[in-house]
Amino acid sequence: MKKNNITIAIDGPAGSGKSTVAKRVAEALGILYLDTGAMYRAVTLKALREGILPTDEEKLAVLAGETDLAFVQAADGTYHLFMDGQDVSAEIRSAVVTRNVSAVSAVPRVREVLVKQQQIIAGQGGVVMDGRDIGTVVLPQADLKIYLTASLEERARRRWLEMKAKGFTGTKEEIAEDLKRRDAYDAGRAVSPLKPAPDSINIDTSALRIEEVVERILELSSFSFPGQEE
Ligand code: DC
Repeated sequence: MKKNNITIAIDGPAGSGKSTVAKRVAEALGILYLDTGAMYRAVTLKALREGILPTDEEKLAVLAGETDLAFVQAADGTYHLFMDGQDVSAEIRSAVVTRNVSAVSAVPRVREVLVKQQQIIAGQGGVVMDGRDIGTVVLPQADLKIYLTASLEERARRRWLEMKAKGFTGTKEEIAEDLKRRDAYDAGRAVSPLKPAPDSINIDTSALRIEEVVERILELSSFSFPGQEE
């Protein structure tokens, strides 16, 4: 039986493999997985539906505070995000949300609202959280902090394969451009920019298989949180 209160922060640029790896690590340790990017995406989706511009900070902050977000794991293991009771898991991955999410997530008061929610969830016990500011802002006391990277080419290739399977007909180069733009925006914003925490462990996943990355993190977790198995 596992009784596990470990908190693991996984940060890194878009397409570095964070969510795939974080999900598997959480599963292996029998703890919660929280996709913080999905939360920013949901607020972005709602803002688009309501015609609120990414520049309207006041309205965005109110909107974020009024939005009910809940993650539910389905019987098949997949994670679904419910926004105000509606399953928006597919819609938050749409191109229009992806194009606008960096701007919405750069709004300080939107971040305040969502970071608070993320910290409350983490306070309930063991969690693997992935995002951009988890090790630096959301969980500065995390037991283990990982910073995942991969070359732009490799990240674009992975995203392209993923999107092609969903019917995307564009090129890898287009995806690389979008990743580059988002990285620059996320790393260049004034509040909680994407950057490694000083005590994070860097893993370059360019030449690694998912299983290898997961193994590495599980190994590190047993060092940083001994006694997690009972
Ligand atoms: O991980 P993702 O691609 O689903 O994240 C979508 C966007 O949300 C990303 O471009 C930056 C933002 N984000 C953030 O600012 N802070 C987080 N903790 C997670 C995501």
